[in-house]
Amino acid sequence: MEQERRPVIFSGIQPSGELTLGSYIGAIKNWVELANDYDCYYCIVDMHAITVRQVPADLRRRTVEQLAQYIACGLDPQKNTIFIQSHVPAHAELAWILNCYTMFGELGRMTQFKDKSAKNAENINAGLFDYPVLMAADILLYQADLVPVGDDQRQHVELTRDIAERFNGVYGDVFRIPQTFNPKVGARIMSLTSPENKMSKSDKDPGGCIYIMQKPEDIMRSFKRAVTDSETCVRYDPVNKKGISNLMQIYSVATGKSFETIESEFTGRGYGEFKPAVGEAVVEMLRPIREEATRLMADKAYLESVYREGAERAAHTAARTLRKVQKKVGFIPR
Ligand code: TRP
Repeated sequence: MEQERRPVIFSGIQPSGELTLGSYIGAIKNWVELANDYDCYYCIVDMHAITVRQVPADLRRRTVEQLAQYIACGLDPQKNTIFIQSHVPAHAELAWILNCYTMFGELGRMTQFKDKSAKNAENINAGLFDYPVLMAADILLYQADLVPVGDDQRQHVELTRDIAERFNGVYGDVFRIPQTFNPKVGARIMSLTSPENKMSKSDKDPGGCIYIMQKPEDIMRSFKRAVTDSETCVRYDPVNKKGISNLMQIYSVATGKSFETIESEFTGRGYGEFKPAVGEAVVEMLRPIREEATRLMADKAYLESVYREGAERAAHTAARTLRKVQKKVGFIPR
């Protein structure tokens, strides 16, 4: 008898920079429990990364670092399939086929393509244009139901649905139609220096963003300099007190305390005490992650075994979809 199918989650992560506190609290931390109810695939998308120029040695290092950091954040490689995109050739193979079911005009309308073309005017390559089709292949190969992504990727998931529906319209039910997925509300972490913007590694002010691998003293410095307001009371008010509310959000996640508890803890104590307290809580939350990631980075054999096994499992699932697609479009089976 066939096993009952659990819903599938697929997400891709570009190995293009350091993981931030925002991505830990807003995404990765919530992914850990998903493995109980879903079949989860987390793909380190090195093929997407080369749509902008990369230094090869840096790309290699960051790909492995990212894997180590995900495991250190609690993503169990036994319960989740974590793998490197270029290790599963089916992604490139399906992307080619899907190219022939994607319109030039559709790709030209993608806002990320327009943004990136403006930023990389000297290198508007075909890969940058075609990026969303490779992403569609990533998602559709695994028959994903849910795709946890930030707002900037919603349009790409929409396009994935359009491509899948177009293909299904011609050949019958080949692809499951995926949806974007926002696990929980609330945990959207903002920049420490401009709390009206999301915490981001592309923040121009380095103090606005915290990285999970950052040294405790650097983390403390950023929190002590965090932007607040002209009052002195620690009170949750995300409209008028954006900076303080963001710090309360972070402190709440790091300590498990409710906003009411935090408000009474800091009654009459002012920001001068609150800000370093948040910094310390974050340092303590990240300490075990940083230590574990550092330990894992020294264990190359283990990391290798994780990405090899991940690629093997992923390739097995991907091959089933790819074979079906190849047959539908009229390729001769090998
Ligand atoms: N484009 C995504 C980003 O930059 C990364 C990505 C690639 C992705 N393939 C994916 C995300 C598939 C979700 C599903 O964030």
